[in-house]
Amino acid sequence: MGPVKSVCFIGAGFVGGPSGAVLALKNPDVEVSVVDLSETRIAAWNSDALPIYEPGLLPVVKEARDAEVRPQNLFFTTDVRGTIKRADIVFICVNTPTKTAGIGAGKAPNMAYFESATRMIAAEADKDTIIVEKSTVPCRTAANMREILHAIGKPGVNFEILSNPEFLAEGTAVADLMRPDRILIGSMQTPSGLEAADVLANLYGSWVPKENILKTNIWSSELAKLAANALLAQRISSINALSAICEATGADVGEIAYAAGLDTRIGSRMLQASVGFGGSCFRKDVLNLSYMAETLHLPEVAAYWQSVVAINEWQKSRFTKRIISTLYGTLTGKKIAVYGFSYKKNTADTRESAAISVVKDLIAEQARVCIYDPQVTKAQIWEELDINGCHLEDVEKYVSIAQNPYDCASDSHAVIVLTEWDEFSNKDVDWEQIFDIMERPAFVFDGRRVIDAGKLQRLGFRVECIGRGNSFQ
Ligand code: NAD
Ligand code: UDX
Repeated sequence: MGPVKSVCFIGAGFVGGPSGAVLALKNPDVEVSVVDLSETRIAAWNSDALPIYEPGLLPVVKEARDAEVRPQNLFFTTDVRGTIKRADIVFICVNTPTKTAGIGAGKAPNMAYFESATRMIAAEADKDTIIVEKSTVPCRTAANMREILHAIGKPGVNFEILSNPEFLAEGTAVADLMRPDRILIGSMQTPSGLEAADVLANLYGSWVPKENILKTNIWSSELAKLAANALLAQRISSINALSAICEATGADVGEIAYAAGLDTRIGSRMLQASVGFGGSCFRKDVLNLSYMAETLHLPEVAAYWQSVVAINEWQKSRFTKRIISTLYGTLTGKKIAVYGFSYKKNTADTRESAAISVVKDLIAEQARVCIYDPQVTKAQIWEELDINGCHLEDVEKYVSIAQNPYDCASDSHAVIVLTEWDEFSNKDVDWEQIFDIMERPAFVFDGRRVIDAGKLQRLGFRVECIGRGNSFQ
């Protein structure tokens, strides 16, 4: 293959959009097109109101897209087929959500979008093309792709499949893409497979140091993505399991995480106890791994990974039960202020947010729930509660949205912190003012351990934190 001139990203989502933008920024001589079936999504990518909230992303997109400081080489379009035809490399970045029906429902990934993208490439490509799995997929997906490409591809057109999983985290996507811990490229260990891996490595080489680009066999690369997410989720479930022991004994999970994390073999990151992990990846990918183990007749392995998700579900309901029992066993008619609805700070993404489960449980207790989140819209909150099984009439009846933390907390019996937005820390929110406008006794339940509990207690609040019991001296 000669020099790469044109690259296509299929799927203009949280991965395709930012990854395409950074690749374009760093390779000004390569035409990068990000395509999607959704016209509204593409229109938003072509505007200044990007379809995702991601700190630092707009300037990156604008520099490559708007031809103000350099020739344009980043394009967002719905012309999926035409763009595939021109491309030397096609990255598949479509969604692979958990199946909701049929065999493996609730566990296996739904590969329909991924297969449809593969079929589209096979049908359209007129020249040799490198196809890159960037979506998170089960191990051995490349073998299925190979069969489809051989069956549908045009005569004389050769395809090389690479696995190049994405490790970015939302909220820090731009920094993660600019300075990745590693770039993983898996290929068949054939001369043409290794050559394709080199071509992709060269594109990344324009900004990623060579020693951070790792080449492996394709099955290892596919499995490494699931393994990384499973190991990260497992750490959170481990610290959350310990948080329950702390609450029952008087130990403090923050001190436990700090003391354990100082051991360089353990390390300090991803040990922040919380109301439970959320996001579109952890639950889906751990279940994907567990289901794979099940289909490989490894039930003990499947059960091991399944328990990571089970602890996470338990952590969420444990938190709500603590709220109910602390508020004297009834929430009926009480106003509960919910601070934060996104699954983590610095994103407006609400997929699998712990807030969804907590708010649903509060509605079931007939609490009046008022939600404030600095980025998540009312429409998004309504949609999440609707698809996650709440009756819309209950949502209308019990849930309201506030534009600031003060309206949210006014007349409430309790404030519940569910997302660790910086503004909820003591410096930004005036807790003294909040105390004044709340019912008595005024409770704060911190599901993220971001508030200064001692200070709030001195102001008169009753404070309950994940991983800290209150009845111990
Ligand atoms: P997303 O839902 O935000 O975006 C996927 C996009 O693909 C959608 O806009 C959809 O319209 C489009 N699409 C689906 N089928 C298509 C087709 N045939 N042709 C054109 N467009 C099509 O998903 P995402 O969060 O970007 O995740 C994409 C993949 O990356 C998933 O496999 C996910 O597990 C993985 N991943 C996600 C993250 C993350 O932080 N979100 C991080 C690493 C990996
Ligand atoms: C994750 C992986 O980190 C990333 O590498 C992968 O590509 C996609 O999945 P993301 O889901 O965006 O990224 O965010 P992450 O920061 O990992 O947080 C996931 C969830 O775990 C959030 O709800 C977060 O609040 C929670 N979390 C994270 C904790 O509860 N404790 C922690 O210590 C870290």
